[in-house]
This record gives sequence, structure tokens and C-alpha cells, in this order.
Amino acid sequence: MATSHALLLFCNLAFGLLALSVVVESSVVPPDYAEVDHVCSRTAPYYDKFCKDVLESDPRAPGADALTLAYVAFGLAHRNASGTRDQITSLLSNSTGLVRQHLERCRGDYATALANIQEALNDLDSKTYGRLTYFSASLLDRAKDCESAFKGTKSPLTDNNEDLKGFSVIGVSIAEELIV
Ligand SMILES: *[C@@H]1O[C@H](CO)[C@@H](O)[C@H](O)[C@H]1NC(C)=O
Ligand SMILES: *[C@@H]1O[C@H](CO)[C@@H](O)[C@H](O)[C@H]1NC(C)=O
Repeated sequence: MATSHALLLFCNLAFGLLALSVVVESSVVPPDYAEVDHVCSRTAPYYDKFCKDVLESDPRAPGADALTLAYVAFGLAHRNASGTRDQITSLLSNSTGLVRQHLERCRGDYATALANIQEALNDLDSKTYGRLTYFSASLLDRAKDCESAFKGTKSPLTDNNEDLKGFSVIGVSIAEELIV
């Protein structure tokens, strides 16, 4: 008798927990990445994964409108390219000859890229979007130029250049979103 009572209690408890977990689960709304999905769909097939990984890493991305996403994208691009610039500075401190020349060229590329990203951020502040495509697209040129500086030899900056290309493609897509 005692055991069947205990069993009943256990069953009630188990059912209660099950019901609770159903309620909790259905109240967890997935984040709204509609704008991210929209922007990133235009970066396919090469950069859509990069695009989603990068943008969704930012807490402002869920539910963001195009302008917020633009701040996220160019802000992250700026931080990323600054990191690369610092990396180049540290590589330069320990290199000579041709490698040094290649790195100097890349330093110039990343300085230009950072200036362009800053211009894009300024344009967001003043809500003038006419030059965003140009600033974004020019990042691709800088990434390609840095990569080609090492042509025929192994570049220590290939991954960085790939990231800059990704940010370029994201920027172009976001510019299209803002210009409509
Ligand atoms: C740039 O961003 C990519 C993607 O998030 C990351 O893997 C990489 O480490 C970043 N590079 C720098 C220098 O911050
Ligand atoms: C400079 O490069 C040499 C050869 O690659 C390496 O052994 C040394 O640890 C490096 N020094 C610094 C400060 O990075």
C-alpha cells in the first residue's frame, strides 16, 4: 500500500515536471534574426556563413533594423581591421628584406581600410548613405592588394585578408539595404 502511494506521488511529480518543462520551453522565443538573414542572404555563397557568425555574435543583432545592423557590421569591421593592423606592426618589428616590404604594403592597405570604415561610420552618424557602397567595396580591394603583395610566397595575413573581404561583402549588402 505504501509503495503504491509513493508511486502515485512520484507519477504526479513527474507529470508536474513534464508540464512545467513544456511551459518553459514554449515561452523561450528564438531570437529574431530576420534582418541578419536578409542581409546575409545577399552575401551567399561565399560569405553567408561568415556573415551570420559575425553579426549574430553581437548582442544588438536580434531584432535589429538595418541601421543598427550597419553600426554592428562596420563597428566589428573596425575592431577586426585594427587587430590586423596591430598584428602587422608586431610582424614588422621582426622582419627584414622582401617580407618587410610586403608587410609595409599591407600596413598601408589596412590604414586605408580603417580610414574607409571610419568614413562609413561617420556617414551612419549623419544618415548619409550614398558613399557606403564605395567605402565597403574598397575594403575588398585593400584585402586583395595585401594578399597579392605576398604573391608567390606564403602570406602570414591570408586569414586576415579573408576576414576583411567578408566584411566588405557584408558592408555592400547593408549599404544596399540602407539606400532603398
Ligand atoms: C576577425 O574576425 C574573425 C571572425 O569573427 C575572427 O576569426 C578573427 O580572429 C578576427 N581577427 C582579428 C585580428 O581580430
Ligand atoms: C623573430 O623571428 C625569429 C625567426 O622567425 C624568431 O625565432 C623570434 O622568436 C622572433 N622574435 C620575436 C620577438 O618575435
